Amino acid sequence: MYCDGVIDPRDIPWGTLRARALVASTHAYAPYSRVHVGAAALTDDGTVIEGANIENASYGLTLCAECSLVSDLARVGGGTLVAVAIVAADGAPLSPCGRCRQLLFEHGGAGLLVDDGPERPARPLATLLPDAFGPDDVATRS
Ligand code: THU
Repeated sequence: MYCDGVIDPRDIPWGTLRARALVASTHAYAPYSRVHVGAAALTDDGTVIEGANIENASYGLTLCAECSLVSDLARVGGGTLVAVAIVAADGAPLSPCGRCRQLLFEHGGAGLLVDDGPERPARPLATLLPDAFGPDDVATRS
């Protein structure tokens, strides 16, 4: 069980997350861009979830891998994202797009650790999406 938002990145099974993300990328539906993306995340109860990008002939309707991932989070019963790895088919980390940073923030918060490959330390989402607007803002500003 992970709690209090205090997670040592060394406790995250990054190798498993990267491997599961790579497998997920093989299930991508990406006939237009041919960029096959997979994502895998660890939740606060230790569950690993996955997602892959799903494109559409109406290009703007494309679902990124992270979008599939948060759908999978709901499917398995919810929870908070603790760590996420996102890769393309070459296995290298793929930097989440702006929209997906916001999607991830909703379900993981500022402390969500985002993989940057084995050579570099994982980055908290706050460094990728500083000063984010999130659920607390809705609660306090309505
Ligand atoms: N893509 C993702 O799945 N996640 C991102 O964070 C960036 C982009 C996908 C969307 C599209 O299917 C393909 O990569 C090329 O943009």
